Amino acid sequence: MDEIIRVQSNGPLSGEIQVEGAKNSALKLMAASLLIPGVTTLTNVPNIADVYVMSEALTALGVVIDSPAPHTITLDASNLTSYRAPYEVVAKMRASTAVLGPLVARSGHASVALPGGCNIGSRKIDMHISGLEILGATCKIEHGYIEALTPTGLHGMPVSLVFPSVGATENLIMAAVLAEGTTIVSNAAREPEIADLIDFLNTAGAQIEGKNTTTLTIIGVEELKPIEHRVVGDRIEAGTFIVAGCIAGGTITVSGFNPKHLGIVLDKLEQTGAVIERLDRGVRVTATDTIKPVDIQTLPYPGFPTDMQAQMMAYLTQAQSSSIVTENVFENRFMFADEIGRMGADIRIEGHYALVRGNTHLSGAPVVAPDLRGGAALVLAGLAADGATEVSNIYHVDRGYESFCEKLQSVGARVERLDRDV
Ligand code: EPZ
Repeated sequence: MDEIIRVQSNGPLSGEIQVEGAKNSALKLMAASLLIPGVTTLTNVPNIADVYVMSEALTALGVVIDSPAPHTITLDASNLTSYRAPYEVVAKMRASTAVLGPLVARSGHASVALPGGCNIGSRKIDMHISGLEILGATCKIEHGYIEALTPTGLHGMPVSLVFPSVGATENLIMAAVLAEGTTIVSNAAREPEIADLIDFLNTAGAQIEGKNTTTLTIIGVEELKPIEHRVVGDRIEAGTFIVAGCIAGGTITVSGFNPKHLGIVLDKLEQTGAVIERLDRGVRVTATDTIKPVDIQTLPYPGFPTDMQAQMMAYLTQAQSSSIVTENVFENRFMFADEIGRMGADIRIEGHYALVRGNTHLSGAPVVAPDLRGGAALVLAGLAADGATEVSNIYHVDRGYESFCEKLQSVGARVERLDRDV
């Protein structure tokens, strides 16, 4: 039985939404537990599908995982029993490639299925592989798997990334923490989720300097010790609900994250006329009746996050005139534009550029979630549409959002999950 999300505008929102721990940190912290012989405890872990997929991947490697309390998981990586991350798991979730670096560092051997492309781009991992080879791993691709071997262990070396890839930066950090000697990663990504991984590893005994900068110095250590760590708040989940408030109208508070992690997003929303009060652990946002257009260029952090591009595009269809959205991170991340077109949006795509016409009357329609963030953005568009919008393929949304409908309902949105006969 397939489920859909049915949404329709229901006037201004009010109240407070508490976001969870960041999906894009929790998954990497789980992978990093492979480095640690003992029981690692993670708290503020989001209850989302991708966490279950990562648990499946780690269990296949011999990690014993338990969940003693809501949003808490323990990972016992004392005895790894395999170095092979199976295709059926990696194909479900690209982030499983995050086991590559820690597995090679801990076991000297890793066999990880090549992540399929997905619908936002080819999702290559050439930078991951070339970085591991510089650290002394021998990598070869056979039968759809990357085999990485380092019989004599990894050795610290300078590695320069051609692009500040989040995943490549994380894999190299996790590979280097147990290497012999010092690794310097230049042109490293600086996303807050990477800072969270660095905090986690340093608490466990690693020696990583340069957090939040583009140059990381990692001095290899003998062993890491098990710790407890709270996952950083999810800035993208938070941004999604903040934009929901801007689209639907009213005033809501979104808590549980550091507003500094959404700097440019909040600045851009203020440029449209929204009023944003930055709090210690969140923001209070009041929508504006006359939305000014604003141009968006997605870039690696601290630039505008690509994971907020679709949500912003939904909002900009309601601006007084047109905006230009430039997608610089992924080569194919405009599928959302096609789907929202079914609701009456007029978005012209030219390569990396999207011209988002403003003053659009959106009407509710059946639409299909193209990916995680696009699916969430379609629900947001439904908040401004005339009539009901039914979003299918909502398994995409469940990958990254816990209780998405319930959270929106709690601030007055008319959003519900329904069983829908296919
Ligand atoms: C992470 O993906 C996030 N996923 C993505 O979030 C996010 O959009 C992305 O970072 C950028 O911020 C997780 O953390 C699980 P990249 P990742 O390596 O690591 C190219 C979401 O919605 N590239 O920074 O895969 C790549 O093809 C997801 O939560 C190479 O060419 O992103 C892409 O065009 C979607 N070769 C660009 O770099 C490589 O070796 C950025 O990729 C690696 C990447």
